[in-house]
Amino acid sequence: MTSSGTEQSLRYLNRVVLITGGTKGIGEATVKLFVKNGANVVYCSKEEKAVDLEMALKESGPGTGTYIPCDVTKEDEIKRLIEVTVKTHGRIDCLINNAGWHPPDQTIDDTSAQEFHDLLNLNLIGYFLTAKYALPHLRKTQGNIINISSLVGIIGQKYAIPYVATKGAITAMTKAMAVDESQYNVRVNSISPGNIWTPLWEELSSHSANPEDMVLGGKDAQLLGRMGTADECAKAALYLAADGTFCTGIDLLLTGGAELNYGNKNQQKIIHH
Ligand SMILES: NC(=O)c1ccc[n+]([C@@H]2O[C@H](COP(=O)([O-])OP(=O)(O)OC[C@H]3O[C@@H](n4cnc5c(N)ncnc54)[C@H](O)[C@@H]3O)[C@@H](O)[C@H]2O)c1
Repeated sequence: MTSSGTEQSLRYLNRVVLITGGTKGIGEATVKLFVKNGANVVYCSKEEKAVDLEMALKESGPGTGTYIPCDVTKEDEIKRLIEVTVKTHGRIDCLINNAGWHPPDQTIDDTSAQEFHDLLNLNLIGYFLTAKYALPHLRKTQGNIINISSLVGIIGQKYAIPYVATKGAITAMTKAMAVDESQYNVRVNSISPGNIWTPLWEELSSHSANPEDMVLGGKDAQLLGRMGTADECAKAALYLAADGTFCTGIDLLLTGGAELNYGNKNQQKIIHH
C-alpha cells in the first residue's frame, strides 16, 4: 500500500456504498474515488459492465467494486440491486443516486406527455425507489443518501422543461427525505453540479448544429471559465459521505459560479423564423 493509501487516509474504509449509473461520467469517477478510499462499492448501469473500469478498480483498490446490472426505471431490478448488495456486503452505509439523462433540446410543443413520464421515471422515481428500498438498511447503519441533482433545477435551462422539472424535484425531495429520516440519524443531501464534462455532455454537444460552439458556451457559462470535472463531483460526494456529518438537507452547488452575476441573457434578440 502506498503512503497515500494508509489506513488513516482512507476516508471511507470498509463502508458499503451503492452508486447508480456507475459506469460513466460522474458515477464512474465516484466509484473510483470511494474504492480508493477503502469502500466496498456496488455500482450499476443498464448497459454491459465496463471491463476497463473493473480492471482499474481491481488494480487500485484498496476497497472493492462490484458491478450489478440494473435499470433504475424498473422497480423489481432496484429491489434486486439492494438485495444483492446486502447479501454480498451485509450492510449499506451510503447510497448515491446518480443514474440520469438529459434529453437533447426540446420545446414544450415538441414534448409529449409520454416523454415527460419516461424522464420522470428515470430521473426522479428511480431516485425515490432506490432510496425507499435502501433506507431500511441505511437506518441500521445511520448512513446517508446523496442525490445528484443539477443547478438547472434552481435556475432553469432553455429547451429542457422535463429535465429541469425532474432536477428541481430531486432537490426538493432531498429536503423532505432529510426531514423524515433525521429521526434515524440518516442524512440526506444533494449535489447540484453545473456543466461537468462527461460522456453525457459530449453526446449532447455532438447532436448540436455546432458542437465546438456549444462546448465553448458550456465553458464560458462558469465564472471559472471551464467546465467542472467528474472527479470534482466525486470529491464533493466523498465530503458529504465522510466528513459532512453535520450536513443534512443541503444542496451543494458545484458550479464554478455559473449562477452568479448578470450575463447576456436577452431572449428578445432572438429572431423567430
Ligand atoms: N454532466 C453534467 O454537466 C451534469 C450536470 C448536472 C447534473 N448532472 C447529473 O449527473 C448525473 C450523471 O450524469 P453524467 O453526466 O455523468 O452522465 P453520463 O451519461 O456520462 O453517465 C450516466 C450513467 O448513468 C447510467 N444510466 C443511464 N440510464 C440508466 C438506467 N435507466 N439505469 C441505470 N443506469 C443508467 C449510464 O449507464 C451511465 O453509467 C445525472 O443524474 C445528470 O443529470 C450532470
